[in-house]
Amino acid sequence: MNDFAIGVFDSGIGGLTCVKELNRLMPNENIIYFGDTARIPYGTRSKETIKKYAAQDVEFMKKHEVKLIIAACGTVSSVLGADSRQFGETPFIGVLLPAAQAACAVTRNGKIGVIGTSATISSGAYGKAIRGIRRSITVAGNSCPLFVPLVENGFTDRENLVVKLVAEQYLGVVKKEGVDVLILGCTHYPVISEVIADYMGAGVTLISPGEEAAKHAFSFMAKSAMLSDRKDKGHNTYYVSDSTKQFAQNARLYLGEEIDEKALFKVDIEDLAL
Ligand code: DGL
Repeated sequence: MNDFAIGVFDSGIGGLTCVKELNRLMPNENIIYFGDTARIPYGTRSKETIKKYAAQDVEFMKKHEVKLIIAACGTVSSVLGADSRQFGETPFIGVLLPAAQAACAVTRNGKIGVIGTSATISSGAYGKAIRGIRRSITVAGNSCPLFVPLVENGFTDRENLVVKLVAEQYLGVVKKEGVDVLILGCTHYPVISEVIADYMGAGVTLISPGEEAAKHAFSFMAKSAMLSDRKDKGHNTYYVSDSTKQFAQNARLYLGEEIDEKALFKVDIEDLAL
């Protein structure tokens, strides 16, 4: 069982921010990743649809030998909220609590900003999680629906005028509140963290939920004696529901290295139907 893989899923490539940190913290673990690239974005859909997709993603994970499932997706984590443990025996974690805890630990002025998809922001889940940790903290949020398509299409350069303009438009309301921490509440956003940081200024700490979930997974697995005893480097295997070529190209941006295309497979979306 300890040699089973860690299962990670997202609507697209954003969850690779979590995979990168998992690889760094636990290089001997195998990882199975699923990116539902045929149905991205999740963040503009209804709660019911997001829950249905999440259940299918989890079922897909369970078809493989996984010892832990991570929803490396802010949208799924926010919509499931406290329901996150509904998926049977395999432990399941999302990005919501790890990111909220990290933000609460670093804020000095008690003002935290959260940006995310429309579904994440309208769920109010981050505010609830943060106030559950420290009641006195104020939370300013804004949805940034154009960030995901920009990132998925490779508009990530620090000097890209389109991204800079969109960032200015979305982040203004949060900056105005004087936050000193900003949760990048969608796992796609860390790829444009330089643009976001440039606009928010040096005094604002950015939190990457994918990275925080990976750290949380590491301590959870260590505490639960779930770490692999493997001596060799672990393998990452990737599954996507749309073009493998596009995924491989974009994945480089997230992982900072090429992915092994022999370990990249397309799955038929129909197989995900429950
Ligand atoms: N990566 C997903 C998240 O963290 C967002 C992308 C989407 O809208 O599907 O929310």
